[in-house]
Amino acid sequence: MLTLTRPDDWHLHLRDGAHLASVLPFTARQFARAVVMPNLKPPVTTVELARAYRDRILSSLPSNLGFEPLMTLYLTDKTPPSEIRAARSSGFIVGAKLYPAGATTHSDAGVTSMEKVFPALEAMEESGLVLQVHGEVTAPEVDVFDRERVFIDRVLADVVRRFPELKVVFEHVTTREAVEFVRAAHEGVGATVTPQHLLLNRNALFQGGIRPHHYCLPVLKRERDREALIEAATSDNPRFFLGTDSAPHARHTKENACGCAGIFSAHAALELYAEAFEQAGRLDRLQAFASERGADFYGLPRNTSKITLVRETWTPPAAYPFGEEEIVPFRAGETIAWRLIEESQT
Ligand code: DOR
Ligand code: ZN
Repeated sequence: MLTLTRPDDWHLHLRDGAHLASVLPFTARQFARAVVMPNLKPPVTTVELARAYRDRILSSLPSNLGFEPLMTLYLTDKTPPSEIRAARSSGFIVGAKLYPAGATTHSDAGVTSMEKVFPALEAMEESGLVLQVHGEVTAPEVDVFDRERVFIDRVLADVVRRFPELKVVFEHVTTREAVEFVRAAHEGVGATVTPQHLLLNRNALFQGGIRPHHYCLPVLKRERDREALIEAATSDNPRFFLGTDSAPHARHTKENACGCAGIFSAHAALELYAEAFEQAGRLDRLQAFASERGADFYGLPRNTSKITLVRETWTPPAAYPFGEEEIVPFRAGETIAWRLIEESQT
């Protein structure tokens, strides 16, 4: 048995409408808070849109579950510094997300060149709003497996140099190079790590045939990268913390000639991390990774309630309802070694 302070998810996609109602309970039963990504269609680019989205999340929440959505703004070429300052003083927006235009799901309104967001970044640096980065270049000549590494050299290194006081989360890091960059960067630079990047390498994309449910962005990398992520997440370095990037897509949009990027893991998020930490022989570090470091990084109080996991094998179903459609969860029809038992929210 493993009892932990209730964790938070520092990177999550909740979608909207009936899809939101289908996936939100999975997160709310495990996590006290989650940083909700703004890549809706249209994207959440203003404080008012974020407020309305937050209200829709709260009204979709089952009444027995307490849960606090921490909202984010979607940065565009035109985000004015005044919107950043309004976000910071809103009390419910914790960051702004940088999607390089074209990098991933619903990123076409993203940033086309970094200079365009320098005024917004300056306002973020001044006000303390966190920059959350999807760290991949989109240049078509760059190999898809190199996009994160090249982003560090071409973009991120310069941003952290220009804005030394800016708080930056390098989201869903996938490479050894990203781990090394975050370790060596100035204070205030952190990273989230997903369960799939801790548990799988890129062979999982082609195991016996093409596996669309293992496809996400940034794409899975080599075993040497996975090992570096495990080492970082299970180390005592406070810069690495939990962010699932759970990203549901309807089954037919993934099992498709041009399948969407995203892995749904919210049904078993903490259990999957527990497996990865157990395999590394470092279950003792799960509490810090899942329940302490993210809150400390964002300057928010740690949670006080507890949750309990038992070492008991279970099998997620082949699919869960997703509005009128269905989603295939991570490990569908296979086993997971841990199970969440306690749901008290005191
Ligand atoms: O795999 C991904 N899915 N990566 C992202 O960056 C976006 C996400 C989504 O929204 O589906
Ligand atoms: Zn994401």
